[in-house]
Amino acid sequence: MALDIEFVRKQFPGLTTDWTLMDNAGGSQILKGVVDKITQYYYSNNVQTGGSYELSQKAASSLAEGRENIATFFNASRPEEIVFGPSTTILMQFLAKAMAHQFQAGDEIVVTNSDHESNIGPWVALQEIGVKLNFWNINQLTFELELDELDKLMTDKTKLVCCTHVSNVLGTINPIKAIAQFVHERGAKICVDGVAYAPHRAVDVSSWNVDFYALSLYKTYGPHHAALYCKYDHMHDLANLYHYFYDADKIPAKLEPGNANYELSYASGAIVDYLAGLGAHTCKNGTRREQLEAAFQQIEEQEIELSERLLSYLRKRNDCRVIGNPSGTDPTRVATISFTIENQDPQQVCKKMDEHGIAIRFGDFHARRLVESMGLLETNGAVRVSMTHYNTVEEVDKLIAALDSVLP
Ligand SMILES: Cc1ncc(COP(=O)(O)O)c(C=O)c1O
Repeated sequence: MALDIEFVRKQFPGLTTDWTLMDNAGGSQILKGVVDKITQYYYSNNVQTGGSYELSQKAASSLAEGRENIATFFNASRPEEIVFGPSTTILMQFLAKAMAHQFQAGDEIVVTNSDHESNIGPWVALQEIGVKLNFWNINQLTFELELDELDKLMTDKTKLVCCTHVSNVLGTINPIKAIAQFVHERGAKICVDGVAYAPHRAVDVSSWNVDFYALSLYKTYGPHHAALYCKYDHMHDLANLYHYFYDADKIPAKLEPGNANYELSYASGAIVDYLAGLGAHTCKNGTRREQLEAAFQQIEEQEIELSERLLSYLRKRNDCRVIGNPSGTDPTRVATISFTIENQDPQQVCKKMDEHGIAIRFGDFHARRLVESMGLLETNGAVRVSMTHYNTVEEVDKLIAALDSVLP
C-alpha cells in the first residue's frame, strides 16, 4: 500500500506554506503532535521534577514517558539507555568527555572523512591526552567506506571506531551492522552518527549491536533536541558529568548535566505516536514498534520514488556531477541528493531556487573534511536537495522545471 500522503502532510503544520521544503537534512518540519505535547506539558505540569508533590511526580513521569518512546524509536533494550541533550554535537562532546579516562597515551581511535564534524572533532580533541587518530577515508569513486581500508587502520591499540550511518552529503547508507561486527571482532567499540539516517529508515540499535548511536530529533520530525543511545553496560564505565555529590552511577542522569529539557523530551514521544499511526495503515494489529517499522517501509517507498525522479533528471544532464550514488532506486541510499553543475556556483543555483519558492541548500554542510577532499571547498561546495517522505512528486517536478529554467 502506497504512503497516504494526504494523511502525512496534515500532520505537519509547517507544510501549509507556499514553500517547497527540500532542506530537510538541515531540519525537518515538526509534527503537530509534538507541538501539542509541548503545549500540554507547559499548561499542565510545568514544574521541576524531584519534588515530593504530586505535580512534580507527574512531570517526572512525563519525562520518563518521553524516554520510553524514544527507546522504542531506537529499539533500545531499556529507556535508561537514552540520553537526551540539546544537539548531537553536544551529546558527542559529552560522550568523548565521559570516555576520556578510558584512553591511555598511544591508544587509537578511527574516524572517517565522511562524517559531519560532530563525530570527528570531539575525538580529534582527545589527541591532547596522547590518543592517536586514524582517518578512514571513503573510496572517492564509489563514495563508500570499505572494510578492507578499515582493516588496514585497526591495530590492537584501536579502542573506538566512529563513523556515520549516512553521510549528510552523500546519502549513502553504510552497512552499520557489518561494520559494528567487524569492529567488535577486533576488540573496539563503535560510535555512530545516525542523524542523516534516522528520518528515513527504522533505527534498530539492538539488531545492529552498536555501542553508541546519536540522532537529532529536529531533523526527525521533532523539536530542537537530540538523543544518544549508550549500551547499558557501557553506562557504568562512563564518567559522571553531573555534580560530584550525585551518585556517580545514576543512569542516564550522569550524562545529562543540569537535566535534559523536560518538555522537549516528553513531546518527542509524539514522533513515535505519529509513526505508529502511519504504520497502522499497513500493520493494524502490530506492536507500536512493529507499526513504526511498517511506517518506515512506506517512507522508504515514497522516498525511492522521489529520489529516482530527481536523479533520473540529473543523470540526463551532461553537466551534472552527482556527489553520491546516482541511482535513486538503490536501497542503500536515502533521499539526500548532492550535486554540482559545471560552471555554476552552488550558491547562485540555490539563490535562483529561492526565487521559485524552493528551499534547498549549498555548502559543506559541516562535513568539511569530505567536501574538502573532493576539492569543492573553494567553489561553495555542492547543491543539496534533501527530501523526506512528506515531499511529493509534484514538488520534485516543480524543482526540475525550476532547475531547467535557470540552468543552461
Ligand atoms: C549527519 C549529521 N550529524 C550531526 C549533525 C549535528 O547535529 P546537531 O545540529 O544536532 O548538533 C548534523 C547536522 O546537520 C548532521 O547532518
